[in-house]
Order: sequence, then C-alpha cells, then structure tokens
Amino acid sequence: MSDWISAPAGPLRGEIRVPGDKSISHRAIMFASLAEGSSRITGFLEGEDTRATSRAFAQMGVRIEAPRPSERIVHGVGLHGLHAPDDEIDCGNAGTGMRLLTGLLAGQAFDSTLIGDESLSKRPMRRVIDPLTRMGAKIESNDGMPPLRICGKQTLRGIEYDLPVASAQIKSAILLAGLYADGESLVHEPHPTRDYTESMLRAFGWPIAFGAGWAKSSGGHSLRATDVAVPSDFSSAAFFIVAATLAHGSEIVLRDVGINPRRTGLLTALRMMGADIRESNPRTLGGEPVADMIVRHAPLRGIDVPLEIVPDMIDEFPILFVAAAAAHGTTRICGAAELRVKESDRIAVMAKGLRALGIRVEETPDGAIIEGGKFSGGGVDSAGDHRCAMSFAVAGLLAATPVRIADCANVATSFPGFVELARASGFFLTAA
Ligand code: S3P
Repeated sequence: MSDWISAPAGPLRGEIRVPGDKSISHRAIMFASLAEGSSRITGFLEGEDTRATSRAFAQMGVRIEAPRPSERIVHGVGLHGLHAPDDEIDCGNAGTGMRLLTGLLAGQAFDSTLIGDESLSKRPMRRVIDPLTRMGAKIESNDGMPPLRICGKQTLRGIEYDLPVASAQIKSAILLAGLYADGESLVHEPHPTRDYTESMLRAFGWPIAFGAGWAKSSGGHSLRATDVAVPSDFSSAAFFIVAATLAHGSEIVLRDVGINPRRTGLLTALRMMGADIRESNPRTLGGEPVADMIVRHAPLRGIDVPLEIVPDMIDEFPILFVAAAAAHGTTRICGAAELRVKESDRIAVMAKGLRALGIRVEETPDGAIIEGGKFSGGGVDSAGDHRCAMSFAVAGLLAATPVRIADCANVATSFPGFVELARASGFFLTAA
C-alpha cells in the first residue's frame, strides 16, 4: 500500500499537459481492434485501466504495438476476428473496461470471463447484464457483481432501452452488443452523457444516429481503421484547475484539454463559485473540442450545485468537495447517488476525509452539505480511489500542516506521473 504526504505549498505556476483521456483511450483500443486495417492512436493514456483494456485485446489475438509512450498501432482483426482469450480477462480497477467489454463479448462466438480487482469486484454489473440479457446475451455473475461469465454463440437482437440511470457505460455496452445484433438498438438516457462511443463509431465508419440523450444504430456493418488523437483528460486537469484556483498567487496553463460539454460541468460549478478560468485557442483534436485553460487564483463561495450539471461532472465530485471545503459559505450537492458506486463510495470517503481535516460535512443519501473552512493537517484514507487520493493531495497543498493520505497506488490507473507533475507545478508531495 502506498501512502503520500501532501504538505502546505504553492503557488502553482507553469504550463502543463495532463495525460490522455481515459474514456477515449479505452474506446480507441476497442474500435481499432474490431476495425479492418491498422489504426494509430496518439495521446493514449498509459494508465493501468487502459493498459488492461489493451491487454484484453492482445489476449484475444489483436496485435498492438507501442512504438513510443502514449502511442499505439493497433492491427485490427475485423468485427468477427477476435479469438477466444487464453485465460480470464483482468480489467483491473476499470469499470469502463469491464462494462464496455461485457457488451462487446456478448456478441462473440466464444465464451469469456471478466474479473477485476477488489474494488471492481464489488461494483454493480446488473445495470449492463439486464439490457444485454434482453438482447439475448447469456451472462453469469456473482450476485450482480464480477466475475462475469459471458457465454458466446448467442443470437442477439436490437432493443429499445430507457436507461434507469444516466450512464455512458451502460449506453456503450448496449451499442457495442448492438454491433453484433439483428436489427436496431435505440437507447434513451435520462440526461445526456458523454458521447464518445457514438462519435468514435461514426469516425470508424459505422452508421449511427445520435443526439443529446439518445443513440440509435443497427448491426451488420463494418469498422474501418482510423487514426485517433486523444485529447488531455479533463478529469485529470480538474485537480490542477481546483488547486490553482485555491492556492494564493497561482497562475497555470493547461494545454490541449478536452472540453466536451458532457464532461465539463465542473467548469460551470467553479465559475458559479467565482473561479477565474479562461479557455483559449479552442480547436478540434481527434473530432473532440479542446482548448488551453488559464487558471488564476480566486476566492470561492459556496453554491447549490445545479441538478442538471451533475452528470456532466460525475467524476469531478471528489475535487469539488475540496473546492467547497475551501470556499466561503455552504455548498449543497444532491442528485449524485451514483457517487456511492464508483471506485469507492465517494460521498462517504470524501466526507470522512474532509472531517478528519476539520471541515464540517453532512452526508446525505445522494450528496452532501459542505461548510467552507480551513484544512487542518491530519491523516485521511483514499480507500484506494484514485480521484479521492488526488483530491486529498490538493487539500494538503492548502492545509495548516501536512496531510498524510493512505492507499494512493491506484492513482496510476488514470494519472500516471501525477506526483511528478504536481511537484513540478508547485505541490509539496512525497511518498510517506
Ligand atoms: C465513463 C462513464 C462514467 C464515468 C467513468 C467513465 C465512460 O461512468 O464515471 O469514469 O468512459 O463511459 P458511468 O457510465 O457509470 O456514469
């Protein structure tokens, strides 16, 4: 288990580029593997989650070269070219990897088993098993949790499905199974979620119609190899955006950050709180909107987080908890029950950690009420959750005395090099 010490420091200065987007990197490996021909992926996230997905396809016979870090050349085998894996497929910590693979594997001619680490083994999978079963898939689970045994050689048919929760992973699992299904699949979402599966399917030449809150496609086509340029991950940039906002005298520039509106709810929330975040040089990279972000210190005030932006910032709540704890006044979060089934119960982990640092936090079933204050030093536990660990590191930057953060190794799942980048930009962060 690896612990960190984050000690008071700052200001944050300089220009940084955070690693590639995790959601896009997973999907790029998947679609390039199923395509006809070779695709080059640049900006690929060298995180444990996305490397696990890459290994899964190598296990199924796809040749994937890594000519240099953050680059992959994937020699696609076509929609029906995967082989039975030699062993169980280990998705590690990655919910996205497992849920999307479940949809894709449901349509194969071979059996497969998906396993994950301790955290992933406790995460709910019925949300994908149910719609996939309605499509004709046969999937066995451990009472709705991994391991998942997926029986091949099933005949799948398209479905019309109303997602019970706003989840890009469930939507994507259905669309991936739909590649192998007879007829059309139509998915409706209670709130629009990230549309990377839809836009990447289109980029790889698959006919698909989609808009805010719905997507429709049918089986029986093929994917054409396409190069993918992966933007920097907004969710990784978020730690530096909040750190620079909170640390006096800071001014940093973040390059090439993906700003898909389904991901940037945190910008809306922080601007409502008074943050000074400017976007410059807006452009398109790999079909996605990106910009450079210039972030300067600004005092924050508490807000009621608007319900409609919750799904657009679902991965950013741990760091929003820290921003709220450093703001003047009260921040109220509701409608975010999904946080309880992420890599950890993020409401419980963040509330407990912030309380240990002297902040008043009241947990609610679907959110929290956070009173802004000052961080004392102390000990907190990230519960093996990468985003909670990095969020507590930001709290340590502003604390009165050092903060010791337990169980930080999983930061490598999404943000390899976080410690080095944080140090280079003004954090005092070391292994404990
Ligand atoms: C993701 C979707 C979200 C998000 C996760 C990545 C994706 O999960 O929290 O980090 O790449 O599709 P849900 O679909 O469970 O909301």
